[in-house]
Amino acid sequence: MNALEAQKTFLLLLASLAILCVVVQSSLPLLIKRNLEHTLNHILQYTPGSRFIRGLRYLINGPKTVQDGYSKAGGKPFLIATPTNNHLLVSSPTHIEELVTAPSIQLSLHAVAKEMLQPKYTMRGFEWQDQRGVEGTGFVRALRSLLTAHLPQLLPKLQLIIRKGLRDEVAQYRRKDSGLNIARSDFADDQKAYCEAQNTPFLEAALRFPQDVIIAAELVRLMPNFLAPFVARLATQNHKSSKVMFDCLVPIVEQRLKCRSLNHKNSEKAPTSTFSLVDLCVFPEYFAPLREELEQNPLPVEGSTPRMDSFLKESMRYNSIDAITCRRKALDTFTFSGGYTVKVGDWACVPQQAMMHDPQYYENPAAFDGFRFLPKDGEKSGAKDMAQNENPNMFTTSSPNWLIWGSGKTVCPGRFYGAAIMRLIMAEVLQSYDCSLRDPKLPRTMTWRSSIVPREGVIMLFQKR
Ligand code: HEM
Repeated sequence: MNALEAQKTFLLLLASLAILCVVVQSSLPLLIKRNLEHTLNHILQYTPGSRFIRGLRYLINGPKTVQDGYSKAGGKPFLIATPTNNHLLVSSPTHIEELVTAPSIQLSLHAVAKEMLQPKYTMRGFEWQDQRGVEGTGFVRALRSLLTAHLPQLLPKLQLIIRKGLRDEVAQYRRKDSGLNIARSDFADDQKAYCEAQNTPFLEAALRFPQDVIIAAELVRLMPNFLAPFVARLATQNHKSSKVMFDCLVPIVEQRLKCRSLNHKNSEKAPTSTFSLVDLCVFPEYFAPLREELEQNPLPVEGSTPRMDSFLKESMRYNSIDAITCRRKALDTFTFSGGYTVKVGDWACVPQQAMMHDPQYYENPAAFDGFRFLPKDGEKSGAKDMAQNENPNMFTTSSPNWLIWGSGKTVCPGRFYGAAIMRLIMAEVLQSYDCSLRDPKLPRTMTWRSSIVPREGVIMLFQKR
């Protein structure tokens, strides 16, 4: 059992105890008469403080809670409870447009990030602003402009790093085991491969830091405020990983600042492509056509490998990474057309997973169709399948039909880099290995709140071609 699962079990236990108390106190007769679920729903609806208790369902079963709400709402906005606030989910084009164009003094992505990460407690007192831009948007320039502009020069180097990283990883696991633990290797170790510092304590800390922050933030969000500093220190082992990273990075940053005029180069971290590799294992019929395409374009870039881009997009649609997107926290009361109001402190978001599995938008949405996003002969804008309603070749295009990167002013500035890394990893695996899952029947995902993540312990087998 990993740390996240341990936390989840602990919270489940707490939740079960709380629910049990309420059941015993107030609803024993009902419990006897009707089935358990009906009774619990009844209790959750009417007991004081029930928003918190109803919200617990969201913690442990977020994607299903959103899907159920979406199915019942028939295209209208709907509300779901979380332990700390309500989320208003909107899905019509008009409401989505209102959501992503709302001024950030009313609906703010940064306030959402602050609530999710609790930087004050998890990042050693970091004073995160509620509104984007208060401290400038240097990170957007660095990611969207500078990093993206340098991608052509970086790609060959990144390709070599990925090649070496994967080769070392497979060799290491071949010695220990017959396979590669993908949840570990892809989420964590590809970051290791891209990290320039060849320094084990730094790498270990860098890999642990995001997990420490997420777990500590989750606990802080569920605990009374006065416990927050203590709980955060405990969960982060007194901020051990950030201290190690800080100590390693300060001299490097100082050195880089000195070397700036000498035009020294930097490197960045990469996101995961675990789901797409798993899909490749589960649907091996895509190996041949994807490899054929790569023979013409061994170093894939935006637009050069439409089959691969379609496969990656379909993998993102099929697996959905997160049940919701375009999260915004109301800093001021906000009312959508039709009179749907988000109260201060609540969030507005889009139920992307439910929409991406809605037959109204995608033909046969439950099926994995790796070439769904390839332009189909005779189909053009207005086709039934949403996949055909946008420029299917463009992996990084953000549109109202494709909200995986968010939308509006805050659309993901790292998407060009992220997409490039996903292509490189996929290309390297296709060119150099055959792969399969050791146990295809094992559950491959786990959820917490609205997130859907690869489950640790899923083993991917790599065989050099
Ligand atoms: C598969 C990979 C990725 C996905 C699916 C993704 C998705 C997203 C989404 C949905 C948002 C919120 C946008 C909104 O609500 O309007 C976002 C924002 C952001 N992403 Fe990404 N992202 C990815 C990779 C990356 C990478 C690699 C970086 C950095 C190199 C990055 C940096 C950011 C930043 C800084 C923001 C905040 C933008 C702002 O506040 O203006 N992302 N991303």
